[in-house]
Amino acid sequence: MLSFSKIPNHIGIIMDGNGRWATKRGLPRYFGHKAGVKAIKRTILACQKFGIKYCTLFAFSTENWKRSKEEIDGIFSLLRDYLAVENNFFTKNKIKLNTIGDLSPFPDDLQNALKSTIEKTKNYDNLIVTIALNYGGRDDLVRAFNKMLKDKVENVDEKTILNYLDTSSLPEPDFVIRTSGEERISNFMLYQMAYSELYFPKVYWPDFNEKQLKKCLKIYQKRNRRYGGIK
Ligand code: FPP
Repeated sequence: MLSFSKIPNHIGIIMDGNGRWATKRGLPRYFGHKAGVKAIKRTILACQKFGIKYCTLFAFSTENWKRSKEEIDGIFSLLRDYLAVENNFFTKNKIKLNTIGDLSPFPDDLQNALKSTIEKTKNYDNLIVTIALNYGGRDDLVRAFNKMLKDKVENVDEKTILNYLDTSSLPEPDFVIRTSGEERISNFMLYQMAYSELYFPKVYWPDFNEKQLKKCLKIYQKRNRRYGGIK
């Protein structure tokens, strides 16, 4: 049974396995990403149903630029369609959209579409969905330290660093899931995940759904979080 009293406040998801899902079906990788977008929508709605307050999705890493131009353009066009056509998705379901990562290398129209949805949804607070785009945990830290130097911050402590990261408005993730069975962090929220519980279900991202999320949450609820102390 899922206990509604022990739902993680913030979950992070590394959505892995789109390419393998498509290849297994003899399809180009693009179709894996396309099916991945449907899984994103299902998962966001499931998060809302289970009362999760923050969901952060790793959609495009600072390392993903190494992929073919064709694949990158495919991901951008899905992101574009998702924001233009599905704009309603966020407003209809009262979901606040947020991004982390350095958006400056993205095409202007994509940046504008993101800004516009972020602006339209800024007052919603029942679920905050953050999409990590051109995001890397190391890059986040480097940009944070450069900002601190620019601001001439003295006496840097752990809290100061948290406040300078892209995630400054978010709590630290309680639970991070990576699909597809790969057991790596791959430069996701490195500093923020210091005490996150981790889980690596075998399912490829396009097959992820409410039932899968519920299974993950049950695993989380069995964990004993000690933060280095003794219970
Ligand atoms: C990982 O699978 C997935 C990605 C790098 C891209 C995720 C992007 C989307 C789901 C679509 C666009 C995003 C939004 C928010 C609309 P992989 O390609 O690394 O899979 P593989 O390990 O099986 O090759």
